[in-house]
Amino acid sequence: MSHKSPKDFFAPLALGAPAPVREIPFRPSRAIHFFDPSNPKMVDKVPAMIGTVDVLLGNLEDAVKADHKVAAREGLVAISHATPELGGPGATTQLWTRINSLDSPWVLDDLTTLVPAIGRRLDVVMVPKVEGPEDIAYIDRILAQLEAKAGLDRPILVHAILETARGMANVEEICGASPRMQGLSLGPADLAADRRMKTTRVGGGHPGYLIREDPVDGAIDGPRATFQQDLWHYTIARMVDACATHGIYPYYGPFGDIADTVGCEDQFRNAFLLGCVGAWSLHPVQIAIANRVFSPSADDIAHARRVVAAMGDGTGAVMLDGKMEDDASLKQCLVLVELAEQLAAIDPELKRLYDALEPEQREGQA
Ligand code: GLV
Ligand code: MG
Repeated sequence: MSHKSPKDFFAPLALGAPAPVREIPFRPSRAIHFFDPSNPKMVDKVPAMIGTVDVLLGNLEDAVKADHKVAAREGLVAISHATPELGGPGATTQLWTRINSLDSPWVLDDLTTLVPAIGRRLDVVMVPKVEGPEDIAYIDRILAQLEAKAGLDRPILVHAILETARGMANVEEICGASPRMQGLSLGPADLAADRRMKTTRVGGGHPGYLIREDPVDGAIDGPRATFQQDLWHYTIARMVDACATHGIYPYYGPFGDIADTVGCEDQFRNAFLLGCVGAWSLHPVQIAIANRVFSPSADDIAHARRVVAAMGDGTGAVMLDGKMEDDASLKQCLVLVELAEQLAAIDPELKRLYDALEPEQREGQA
């Protein structure tokens, strides 16, 4: 099979389409809040949410009833027209959509309706049930054709949901399939079904998936501690590696037990620690959880700045509080400091929090 020359990778896929981006800029996207644009109660809440959440996503796929598909698509166009401050370059709250799956009868109309009508404001198109790079190539070409026709001056980015076993097996190729690729989300519900896992939940752990302490003194029936294990560790770690390899962003997906805010926070935090930049929100309570979890804590930033200050030109090793710091721990600290700066630029509360740490940093420098 003959592959495209690397020289052609950044050529537009349609005459007159905007040039593909060479880098996916970091834009805060701690919470991707899903709403159903055919549901008037949810739509009414949208204007007041602008500025309080990093991403608002008009969902057209699962959770929207078949006989509401057209209303959802048209509702998204109407919301975008009514709230021009939502989405587009420089907007504090991005506008994303999740289109219907590529094997559905709705997806083509989703794209041909949305790109001309709201393409200028639409930052990212989330594509569900992506199985391989051929799915991204299909979307890539159609978007280029529609962007050219609509006269758009920047490409709409693409985000794939990892929710089939084959998609998982092809995760690296999916990430590298187009310069439009912005990121990946874990889709634990569909992925569990496709893998024939025996769970019945949307994200989170399972009490049966555990490890048990060895018998103490051979007492098999004696008390033995058990610990629940993380069902999603392997998947998230693979997703993070694939995204980091390709310079794009990984996300935890949905956590369906809205009342279990503690369990949700734990899952989100595991994802944050492993390298994810955000998660989905299915209810406004989850926005606050994601905003908190996916922002470095004041303690982390105070420590990271002390290491940066102590490491001078960044080479060699120093002892700080009895711990060895070197080039590699400095690089980890710089990841946190850079993230804090990016988030502080759009979140005044975080800016105040991180700015208030300055005296401590100077203390560390002294
Ligand atoms: C999300 O779409 C999921 O299937 O978990
Ligand atoms: Mg799904």
